[in-house]
Amino acid sequence: MKNFSLLSVLMIAVFGVMTSCSSSDDCHECHIALFDAAGQETAEVEIGEFCGDALEDVESAGYQLTEMLVGEKFGIASSKVVIEEFLDGIELSCFVLTDGVNYKVLPTAKDYKRIGEGDTGLNTGGMGAISPVPFANKTLLNKIEQNIIIPTIEGLKKDNIEYQGFIFIGLINVNNNPKVIEYNVRMGDPETEVVLPRIQNDFVEIFQSFKNKTLDKIELNIDHRSAATVVLVSGGYPSSYNKGIKITGIDHVVDSTVYHAGAIREKENIYTNGGRVLAITSFGNNFQEALKNSYNSASKINFKGKYYRKDLGFDL
Ligand code: GLY
Repeated sequence: MKNFSLLSVLMIAVFGVMTSCSSSDDCHECHIALFDAAGQETAEVEIGEFCGDALEDVESAGYQLTEMLVGEKFGIASSKVVIEEFLDGIELSCFVLTDGVNYKVLPTAKDYKRIGEGDTGLNTGGMGAISPVPFANKTLLNKIEQNIIIPTIEGLKKDNIEYQGFIFIGLINVNNNPKVIEYNVRMGDPETEVVLPRIQNDFVEIFQSFKNKTLDKIELNIDHRSAATVVLVSGGYPSSYNKGIKITGIDHVVDSTVYHAGAIREKENIYTNGGRVLAITSFGNNFQEALKNSYNSASKINFKGKYYRKDLGFDL
């Protein structure tokens, strides 16, 4: 019965309603019929009017939904699917520290998630990041604070959620309007490698202020230069890759900080031990200069199969 009702939703969404024409012969108003578990129709939702290619997109979305809901593509994780508005814009990450009462907005960052240049290929844990985000101007930052950060902090209080720590807000900038994609209660990676080096305060002091909720008394001292991190990964990552490959040249890096992630020390040597091996962070007067410095350091480090994206910042 469950499969019958799910299938009905999809069939009607993808095939049934599309045959009902609107005013134009080439365009179709699409509706999704919602069914309860017993197969009874409970509502019909208009999802818009689609023409040409867009109509094909709707059909293809229907097949994906069938795979997830009926084919259990992701098991229990795809037993419910939320369909959201498509947001066309550029992503940025915003970080907030809160002691539960007060908050501080930390520097913005932009990460690069795809393995391939031009943001192509599989998603990774992050191939690099830049801070600050050049397009995050005062107007956008003000909207983020007023429309997203303050309601978030107030919402936590209203719901009696006592939270102290980092809030990571994943945003997309749609025509200068920030929209939330996700929340995390942690910092981001590899954003951390560009955000934290820019905060010159003693973090112990910051965390100690949480005890008496006096974060508001602390003035953040932010390095106004740009920081850029480039992640060196094992050949093949994020699919299969080898481990235990000797890394050389780290001692030749002078102007960058090298963070070890998927790396392991054995006696005097360092070996690869994961997909994302090292993150190299540098400063510059702008993100281009910071990137140049990180790329220069990346060229000094070697291990068989070393790969990194050489186009970070291409979209800024
Ligand atoms: N860089 C994205 C994340 O940490 O989730």
